[in-house]
Amino acid sequence: YFMLKEIAEQPKAVADTLLGRTDGSGSLTLDEVRIPANVLREVGKVVIVACGTAFHAGLIAKYAIEHWTRVPCEVELASEFRYRDPILDQQTLVVAISQSGETMDTLMALRHAREQGAKVLAICNTNGSTIPRESDAVLYTHAGPEVAVASTKAFLTQLVACYLVALYLGQVRGTKYADEIRAVVRDLGSIAGAVERVLETMEPVRELARSLAEKNTVLFLGRHVGYPVALEGALKLKELAYMHAEGFAAGELKHGPIALIEEDLPVVVVVPSPRGRSVLHDKIVSNIQEIRARGARTIVVAEEGDDAVVPYADHLIRVPVTPTLLQPLVATVPLQVFACELATARGNEVDQPRNLAKSVTVE
Ligand code: AGP
Repeated sequence: YFMLKEIAEQPKAVADTLLGRTDGSGSLTLDEVRIPANVLREVGKVVIVACGTAFHAGLIAKYAIEHWTRVPCEVELASEFRYRDPILDQQTLVVAISQSGETMDTLMALRHAREQGAKVLAICNTNGSTIPRESDAVLYTHAGPEVAVASTKAFLTQLVACYLVALYLGQVRGTKYADEIRAVVRDLGSIAGAVERVLETMEPVRELARSLAEKNTVLFLGRHVGYPVALEGALKLKELAYMHAEGFAAGELKHGPIALIEEDLPVVVVVPSPRGRSVLHDKIVSNIQEIRARGARTIVVAEEGDDAVVPYADHLIRVPVTPTLLQPLVATVPLQVFACELATARGNEVDQPRNLAKSVTVE
């Protein structure tokens, strides 16, 4: 399958997205971002518009943008954006994320934003496509062509590009020191190797996926940046395995979704690093206990060395230690493999799932 090939290409894709984006001193040089530094310094709000998987990349980017730049960031489904009459002005930076660069909903959203005077920066994988052509600036992801309908390497590289944009904003606005930027860029540089290590340990995940081929429902839980990862894991499973799959913020469990938990229901839980905000980690561990006490079969994605989850994990998927904000770059990969294998076990056409097109050029 192209999808398997594209999953395997992710270490290189991530490295390529980083290539040539720093100068000798480690400062970011995003030459394609032709929006002048003085305009970026005046930005009062960032609005991210995107669809599907690209929208999930935007949800994760919000955490990095707000944390590193202290600029408020909204993330909106492109298909909803212009219909609510969003508040935009010349101080708004709209970031349009799209693998294909041809998604009509995203294109219409950015056209609307530009009509209102906002500056638009595209994050795109397809050179010369419509979305970058109609934007004020573009940052290409350099993932190489993505053929499978289900987006994999495009997602990881969109995340890297979003982190670069967030750091660049921090650099020009002076909210991040040069050494802090260098440290994050260094961490990003080690992600290719970390993804490689994840890919080398996927056999138990494939085995688990095959064992769940007869199930009807899989739930996904996450907190903080793990929440959009949960949404992405669920989307992959829907589009490939045609199963009922839903992602929830783990903190929302007690507000409704916990009623869905029943005996032997597979629930994938993306666990934040215990070295980040430890309160988040502790809370998700108690979420795992809660669902397990109600019969759920827990599939826990946790970083190496996180022993607190071990007693409550029916299946444990280890990912390498990364800084908190970068964890989605490694935690998403097992969920891609899981969906691909489960779809194959169900006899589905992985690269061309039913009813879906790679690029959605109608609204
Ligand atoms: C991802 O697996 C999907 N096929 C889909 O959600 C996709 O991400 C969405 O249609 C957006 O496409 P784009 O990135 O080309 O704009």
